[in-house]
Amino acid sequence: MKIAVIGTGYVGLVQGVGLAEKGHEVVCVDIDKEKIEKLKQGISPIYEPGLDELIEKNIKAKQLSFSTDLASSINGAKAIFIGVGTPQGEGGAADLSYVYTVAREIGESMKEYSVIINKSTVPVGSAKKVADIIKENYDNEFDVVSNPEFLREGMAVSDVMNPDRVVIGTNSKTAKKIMEEIYKDFDCPKVFVTPESAELIKYASNAFLATKISFINEIAGICERVGADVKEVSEGMGLDKRIGDKFLEAGLGYGGSCFPKDTRALHQIANLNNYEFKILKSVIEVNNNQKRLIREKIKKTFPDMRGKIFAVWGLAFKPDTDDVRESPAINLIRWLIGRGVKVRACDPIAIENAKSHLPHEVEYFDSPYDAASGADAVVVITDWNHFKEIDKNLLKEVLGEHNIFDGRNIFDPREMKELGFNYHGIGRRV
Ligand code: UGA
Repeated sequence: MKIAVIGTGYVGLVQGVGLAEKGHEVVCVDIDKEKIEKLKQGISPIYEPGLDELIEKNIKAKQLSFSTDLASSINGAKAIFIGVGTPQGEGGAADLSYVYTVAREIGESMKEYSVIINKSTVPVGSAKKVADIIKENYDNEFDVVSNPEFLREGMAVSDVMNPDRVVIGTNSKTAKKIMEEIYKDFDCPKVFVTPESAELIKYASNAFLATKISFINEIAGICERVGADVKEVSEGMGLDKRIGDKFLEAGLGYGGSCFPKDTRALHQIANLNNYEFKILKSVIEVNNNQKRLIREKIKKTFPDMRGKIFAVWGLAFKPDTDDVRESPAINLIRWLIGRGVKVRACDPIAIENAKSHLPHEVEYFDSPYDAASGADAVVVITDWNHFKEIDKNLLKEVLGEHNIFDGRNIFDPREMKELGFNYHGIGRRV
């Protein structure tokens, strides 16, 4: 099927590439000329394992092309995916201006029936709003479908190719048929619902996962006060199949471009509909506090930290991505610098992205050992394997003072203590 995908960010690009790989003829469209030129040469604008190879393969097979011209790209396309950004806007609500601009352009350029598919994360009622905007300039038949995306950064290719489920929100039989054809080679349950339910499934899923994280972070707080260990507690809880072992890792809270934004947006949707979403309000509050928790631990060991040297391991909001949006590293480093600490930051791939968010005093290192050399403390922000697999004896040799603040619980506190480190985890028993 000929398919156009508008927007080549995480969602649009990986979706477009995935559909091409499944045999559709896909054109990906973006207004950013430089990005499109690079993509035409097979260069991905984002770091995502496996993506470059698939782009190159599908360009060669003529299944995938890139363009800046929306009008000609949607010509003849049976399906048009909208995968542009929905950043946080006023009062926490999602800013839909990019989605609406694309909808307007589609309405101006469409020549025959198409299904317009909302992949971007949008508030309930947006499918209808998009349809209204298209109708302003196009008065023949078309359908708007809500088809939310559940991919994780760092796992985007495998999540798109092998999703747990595909959610399709539509009331139209014609659109349902086209959606079935698009996803016929995806081996997973297809959930057909109304557009409103589909839109809410996306927010509810992210909010629920965020709730699991804030919940275990609160349990970690209790663990610290009663002498329990949160790793042991989450293992014991997670073996109950009704609970599951995923998203029960305590640490510095959730970051990234999705959970913080989507939890705030869902809270705002509830407010606007005169519903007080009490649990979600607490989830957000707990997460905000969690990001600052490590400061209290640092202050206890270093009441005066002026002139101290800190190695900060990890700048990305999570491993396997170079994304630093809402990463706890950013505010922590600013806070340390503000207190006169010399910060040496280390990350396998996120240094370039982090630089523009951080004060100029920060020094950057590729090697965690070099960053830690002669330092007074190591603060672990991201649970990269790179750090988990560190040679602890060598680390001990190079460190000046043996303080470890482990914001992701990557080390075993008992082992660290035996090795002579002054170890601080989140909710751990030493
Ligand atoms: C998240 C969802 O997992 C995807 O399903 C969804 O499609 C995506 O948002 C989106 O809406 O676009 P992502 O933001 O890539 O994906 O990251 P996750 O892997 O879900 O992690 C989010 C944050 O939670 C990270 O900061 C991670 O460190 C933190 N986390 C995760 C924990 O603190 N504890 C855990 O147990 C798990």
